[in-house]
Amino acid sequence: MLVSLKPLLSHAMIHKYAVGSFNVANFEMMEVVIQTAVSLKSPVIVSTSSAEARYLGPKVAVAMAKSLAKKHNAQIVLHLDHGDSFEMAMQCIRAGYTSVMFDGSHHPLDENIRITQEVVRAAHAVGVSVEGEVGRIQGVEDDLTVSEQDASMSDVGEATRFVKETAVDALAVAIGNAHGFYLKEPKLDMVRLQEIQQSTQKPIVLHGGTGIPEDQVQQAIKLGIAKMNVASRVRRAFMTAVYDELKVNPQTTEVRDVMKPGRLAMANEIESSMKMMNSIGQL
Ligand code: 13P
Repeated sequence: MLVSLKPLLSHAMIHKYAVGSFNVANFEMMEVVIQTAVSLKSPVIVSTSSAEARYLGPKVAVAMAKSLAKKHNAQIVLHLDHGDSFEMAMQCIRAGYTSVMFDGSHHPLDENIRITQEVVRAAHAVGVSVEGEVGRIQGVEDDLTVSEQDASMSDVGEATRFVKETAVDALAVAIGNAHGFYLKEPKLDMVRLQEIQQSTQKPIVLHGGTGIPEDQVQQAIKLGIAKMNVASRVRRAFMTAVYDELKVNPQTTEVRDVMKPGRLAMANEIESSMKMMNSIGQL
């Protein structure tokens, strides 16, 4: 069954853990995310970026998620990550996504608020949750590249106004986190995080989960992070394992055999991410 973000994040806030949001681009990735979560009794969010949603087709993504959730007897969220337009968010909602992010962080604040309000109005009318973003997260996420110069930390006053005026269900922040592999160890601005959470009273979302040290993840959860996005480490593990298998067995014509080590490698990364987030056993 597909459910919205809201009940999962409320539970996570109360019990001090974060729900992992894992990006998927194909059937194998989606099934491993769901299977791993079920076997570890962990809540989970299956995400597609706008590019991944376009690649799969939103209707196909929903059909896959529904039938995999049924097969594994799971309750999961199907979430659009970094929705890049009002239209994209609507296509996903119409297809059956249960949660969408609208990322208007590249717009001036007023414009970000205006479009996010439209997304929230439509989404909430049909029980779909919405994540917004204030501040700009550095790094590369699919089609989205934000340079160091263009990145900016989330401002507490702006975040407060944004949440009040849009009524989003969760807020993504830039507090020293970045998409992709970190070139040097990140240092999250915990004071900023705490101030934003206290003044918005909303579940906060930490993007760029790959490579954030465990002690910082743990502290961030104590200060209000209830959702953490992880993509690069899972994608890399999957592809490296598939590549290694093909090197050993270059003549193979069996797709299933090549996918097997990719699936295993992914499952290990997901498990270790979930451990960091304290979400194992929370179901
Ligand atoms: P990473 O690729 O750094 O794990 O970030 C994922 C993410 O934040 C997706 O929105």
